[in-house]
Amino acid sequence: MSDHPKIKLPDGFNHQAFLSIDSTNKQAKRKIEEGAKSGLWITAGEQTGGRGRGDRHWVSNPGNLYCSLIKNVGKDLKNAAQLSFVTSLAVRDTVAGLLKSDDVKCKWPNDVMVAGRKICGILLETHTKAGAQDNYIIIGIGINIEHHPDLTLYQASHINEQSDIKYSPDDVFNCLSQNMARWLDSWRNEGFSYVREEWLKQCKGLGETITVRMPNQQLVGRFVDLDSGGALMLDIDGEIKLIHSGDIFF
Ligand code: BTN
Repeated sequence: MSDHPKIKLPDGFNHQAFLSIDSTNKQAKRKIEEGAKSGLWITAGEQTGGRGRGDRHWVSNPGNLYCSLIKNVGKDLKNAAQLSFVTSLAVRDTVAGLLKSDDVKCKWPNDVMVAGRKICGILLETHTKAGAQDNYIIIGIGINIEHHPDLTLYQASHINEQSDIKYSPDDVFNCLSQNMARWLDSWRNEGFSYVREEWLKQCKGLGETITVRMPNQQLVGRFVDLDSGGALMLDIDGEIKLIHSGDIFF
């Protein structure tokens, strides 16, 4: 059930909407401590302390979508990273569906690009409830709809820049919540190997020479595959290096 009249959620999910909040990921952690269950979505009209990967600030003025989904993953965190591919596919399908375009690609590890420009950010965080043994993954998603920041690591865009129809955060959230439910079902029923195959069909840069930037290192090589756990396989002069985190550039 949603506390917002314009939102139609798939079965098994709930939704709490906030006008303004520090960060939907932080609010999700507070809600877990208060007893929130898996499947709760938090959305905000704006964030006063939105956070991106690598502790970067995420500009969060009104007009874009800011949301987080709480997912209980039980005792085992081993497969949690797989959720970033599940989420990327759900965001990709959402944006591709709204724009009616195939030029919407997943970028490792969990960005989505439209015409080569970043249109969303995904931040997965883990949280263990005080005094309990269950682990939660908080899936934080920001989708640029009305605006995008200019000074970024990558060139960026927003949905309404690419579309004749002007979409609202509610329109985008309605599609996203349906696509997330569908991809979570595929992950549960068909496993990560299916998700990995589908992600590879939709990703940018496979087979191309890319640059990977890590905090203390930069590598150049050919992006040849994803391993069974989602690490990027980089061929550097015939030797395969597994990359578990970093920013990639084409
Ligand atoms: C990135 O750096 O690409 C990830 C950005 C993630 C931003 C979203 S907006 C909703 C959620 N709340 C946050 O504070 N961050 C995530």
